[in-house]
Amino acid sequence: MNKIIENKFLGDDMYLMKVAGDFKGKMGQFYMLRAWDTYPTLSRPISIFDIDSEGITFLYKVFGEGTKIFSKLKINDEISLEGPYGNGFTEVEGKIALVGGGIGIAPLYLVAKKLKNCDIYLGFANKVILEDEYREVCDNLYTTTGNTFITDILDVTKYDYILTCGPTPMMKKLVSMVENTETKIQVSLENHMACGVGACLVCTCKTTNGNKKTCKDGPVFWGEDVIFND
Ligand SMILES: Cc1cc2nc3c(=O)[nH]c(=O)nc-3n(C[C@H](O)[C@H](O)[C@H](O)COP(=O)(O)OP(=O)(O)OC[C@H]3O[C@@H](n4cnc5c(N)ncnc54)[C@H](O)[C@@H]3O)c2cc1C
Ligand code: FES
Repeated sequence: MNKIIENKFLGDDMYLMKVAGDFKGKMGQFYMLRAWDTYPTLSRPISIFDIDSEGITFLYKVFGEGTKIFSKLKINDEISLEGPYGNGFTEVEGKIALVGGGIGIAPLYLVAKKLKNCDIYLGFANKVILEDEYREVCDNLYTTTGNTFITDILDVTKYDYILTCGPTPMMKKLVSMVENTETKIQVSLENHMACGVGACLVCTCKTTNGNKKTCKDGPVFWGEDVIFND
């Protein structure tokens, strides 16, 4: 178990939680979090937002029972973290855009810190959060809210690579936008998970190379390989 050192409300049901300890992890990997004994049964997968010498930070949105429990945790409360799991984003070089939608913005902060000199595009339903923090780690930050989608303001042909995480319709649209261009895209899927370690098949996704486990073979895949459900 590790101690919470921050659990800050950011608005729109989103929180930034920092946990003390010496943690490992690459951009796009996730941890399985639990802050309860027996119920709910399953731990919850949450992406690494940032790691430093004090600990690890997660950006999460309250959806159901598990994330609601996280939101009630106070400084010095304890939480159990297992990981890091998943493959993470592949390191690339060139002109790079990171594109996040909703809580899918979470893994992109560490990606920007690691790759440097990226442009970041973030789409929010209502309110822009952590604007200064994201601006600090990129060359140019673009944001949208409400009915303007982040895909409306992005010219994919300006970039060699797009790295994205967010709602499936957004990622599907981005994959279709790079078709017939030179731009390559990596997508981080957020399929429902149970075990998080490749044992239960709950998270299976379809790819051109057959069925894959999102938790173990992913969550990051090359966009051209993913077969999105209609
Ligand atoms: C690889 C990965 C990284 C993620 N990173 C983040 C992040 O950084 N921040 C964040 O806020 N959310 C993230 N999510 C989504 C997050 O895991 C779910 O919102 C969370 O599990 C919901 O749990 P709950 O108990 O609040 O909701 P409930 O609906 O009560 O959960 C019921 C069950 O369904 C699973 N579940 C529900 N929604 C999701 C979902 N979208 N994805 C996966 N499992 C789900 C839960 O884990 C749980 O087992 C990520 C999901 C995946 C797969
Ligand atoms: S969540 Fe169990 S195999 Fe992926």
